[in-house]
Amino acid sequence: MRIGILGTGTVGQTLGTRLVQLGHDVKLGSRTGTNEKAAKWVTGAGEHATHGTFADAAVFGEMVFNCTGGMVSLAALNDAGAENLKNKVVVDVSNPLDFSRGFPPTLTVCNTDSVAEQIQRAFPDAKVVKALNTMTAPLMVNPTAIPGDHDVFLCGNDADAKARVTELLRSFGWRVILDLGDITAARGMEMILPIWLRLMGTFKTPMFNFHIARG
Ligand SMILES: NC(=O)c1ccc[n+]([C@@H]2O[C@H](COP(=O)([O-])OP(=O)(O)OC[C@H]3O[C@@H](n4cnc5c(N)ncnc54)[C@H](OP(=O)(O)O)[C@@H]3O)[C@@H](O)[C@H]2O)c1
Repeated sequence: MRIGILGTGTVGQTLGTRLVQLGHDVKLGSRTGTNEKAAKWVTGAGEHATHGTFADAAVFGEMVFNCTGGMVSLAALNDAGAENLKNKVVVDVSNPLDFSRGFPPTLTVCNTDSVAEQIQRAFPDAKVVKALNTMTAPLMVNPTAIPGDHDVFLCGNDADAKARVTELLRSFGWRVILDLGDITAARGMEMILPIWLRLMGTFKTPMFNFHIARG
């Protein structure tokens, strides 16, 4: 599959590297077509890796990942272009974290809304699926890095889009994939971040994940 990734940070690069390893063609998108981090990533990731602007990545991708900060995601997706996202699955990995007043960050949107819903409203012709935002980047693409069963959540309005993302998650090695329903479930997926940040402070490592025990 051709996959466009919006975002040149740790998440974009980590997902991009794994997707290339799995045989996909990946274009990493940035605000500029000459981003140094993206160029360096291409050099290391091999012949199936390219980079360009957010719009270049969106045009390229049959599926598009949003790996930008939650506060700037709408701006990045606007740069990517509504036409270029039309009818495409947009996997939103972002979190609405505002670090401007230091640590811990606050949530820029919560309770009655979420970044994923903002994106779905702004781009009604895209099929937004929220996934993978509740764990650290290395774990997203390599769940066996920590032992035992642990969970990845996803939600979205389009069943077919969620099935395609589920397939991709399985190819990463995920076994427990919990579909939480429509895109409004992204509120809970994003509001879990304060406890995730606390746990990171307690464990002194980001290499942990949630597992839901059921009776
Ligand atoms: N780090 C993790 O392990 C982790 C885990 C789960 C979820 N997340 C979430 O995943 C997302 C990506 O995190 P990250 O740490 O990889 O990267 P990041 O540093 O949050 O975001 C990097 C991207 O944001 C773009 N950007 C910055 N300011 C912008 C603006 N004003 N307008 C448009 N785009 C802008 C950058 O563009 P340029 O390329 O042009 O610089 C870059 O591509 C975040 O929402 C984060 O909360 C992160």
